[in-house]
Amino acid sequence: MTPEDPVVDPGLGRLPVLRVVPMPADTNVAGDIFGGWILSQIDIAGSVVAHRRAQGRVITVAVNAVQFHKPVFVGDLVSFYADVVRVGTTSLTVDVIVYAERFRDGTHAECVRVTEATLTYVAIGPDRRPRPVPPNDA
Ligand SMILES: CC(C)(COP(=O)(O)OP(=O)(O)OC[C@H]1O[C@@H](n2cnc3c(N)ncnc32)[C@H](O)[C@@H]1OP(=O)(O)O)[C@@H](O)C(=O)NCCC(=O)NCCS
Repeated sequence: MTPEDPVVDPGLGRLPVLRVVPMPADTNVAGDIFGGWILSQIDIAGSVVAHRRAQGRVITVAVNAVQFHKPVFVGDLVSFYADVVRVGTTSLTVDVIVYAERFRDGTHAECVRVTEATLTYVAIGPDRRPRPVPPNDA
């Protein structure tokens, strides 16, 4: 694959919730992208789909699991795909999968699944207390 070739869309034709290029300020002491930066983007991406499904404000109550499969580098095009996988009474669980597109040697593109995470959000009202998630067809 050359830089002129489009990288295969890992989202199987659907748009990512979030797409970001990390900058040098986002690195850890070793020069790779800081895991905390990736986690904050994951939290944002997950909250977008949770907010949409809950039809209103949500708050993160738990990061249930996170796995960093591969490093992310400055200049990668990082795409976050998020899906609501469970709806409780007031809570929603979201899976987020992260891909990085990069040109490692300037000629060969690769698209790597770098991170996966599962987070739980709670729908809250104006009083910041949990509120029921509306039915899907509401
Ligand atoms: C989120 C919050 C409003 C929930 O309040 P609470 O009194 O604990 O609410 P409840 O015990 O009734 O739980 C509400 C829902 O969250 C779920 N929940 C609570 N803690 C959880 C955890 N650690 N993991 C997964 N789900 C959890 C409950 O199972 C419940 O789900 P359900 O209604 O679908 O059955 C409260 O914990 C809070 O404000 N936390 C701080 C959130 C925050 O500041 N996030 C940003 C962090 S950077």
